[in-house]
Amino acid sequence: MAHPERVASAASLRAMERILAARGLQAVPEARDDDSREANPGDRQWHHRARAEYALNRWDAATPPRYRDAEATLPEVAAWADRALADNAAAGALLLTGQTGTGKTHEAYGALRRIAAGGPDRFEVIAMNSADMYGRLRPSQVMGAAERELRRLSEVQFLLLDDLGTAKVSEWTEEVTYRLFNYRYNFCLPTIITSNLPARDEHGPDLTDFVGARVASRLAEMVTSLVPMIGTDRRRGGRAA
Ligand SMILES: Nc1ncnc2c1ncn2[C@@H]1O[C@H](COP(=O)(O)OP(=O)(O)OP(=O)(O)O)[C@@H](O)[C@H]1O
Ligand SMILES: [Mg+2]
Repeated sequence: MAHPERVASAASLRAMERILAARGLQAVPEARDDDSREANPGDRQWHHRARAEYALNRWDAATPPRYRDAEATLPEVAAWADRALADNAAAGALLLTGQTGTGKTHEAYGALRRIAAGGPDRFEVIAMNSADMYGRLRPSQVMGAAERELRRLSEVQFLLLDDLGTAKVSEWTEEVTYRLFNYRYNFCLPTIITSNLPARDEHGPDLTDFVGARVASRLAEMVTSLVPMIGTDRRRGGRAA
């Protein structure tokens, strides 16, 4: 026999349904199948997909056509991206070094794509070639434009600085590089750097020579994943230069 309370509550529910139906309302939402859940904004997966779509659109906007198909193919690059997705502040920097055409920029954009596809809560990214960056940061006629640009690059959630070390070193490049990295270091902001220069080379030019000792010291702590890329120039179809 059915429990008396349950019978009573079933009866009162039917009564309520009759009252609501008389007013053209429905008490119980229609049973939903899996397809209709896709359109339900309350659904966690729906939110996750919406975040990924939003982030991937931003990734698209920040990515030049050459790297539209970029993917993080190396396990250490994918692992860094996963850490950055899980905890921005713990990711630190990813440093990709190696000779020209070995796929550094491809992996860098691939890492950002992987983060975006993971559906982050927030996804702001600036990707810039370092030579372009120094060009934009030169004091210009427009009052304060260079300072504003430096602030934008310093504060953005994800920064990809491509080809660091190609500009000619000067006191000015060292100062700008210091200000940028010091900010990102202090605020634990995830940063991706690519460079033709090795991180360290006792017999030749290395990244330390370019950025200066104070930035190098910060980078040593920031870089959680150093990926030296080897191989021949992919632009020449893998043939030696
Ligand atoms: N894993 C990959 N799969 C397919 N194509 C790739 C891959 N890695 C790189 N490429 C392609 O090879 C070419 C060279 O790659 P990329 O531009 O990333 O090299 P790089 O190391 O950044 O070179 P540089 O030091 O000259 O900037 C590009 O056309 C890129 O799209
Ligand atoms: Mg490159």
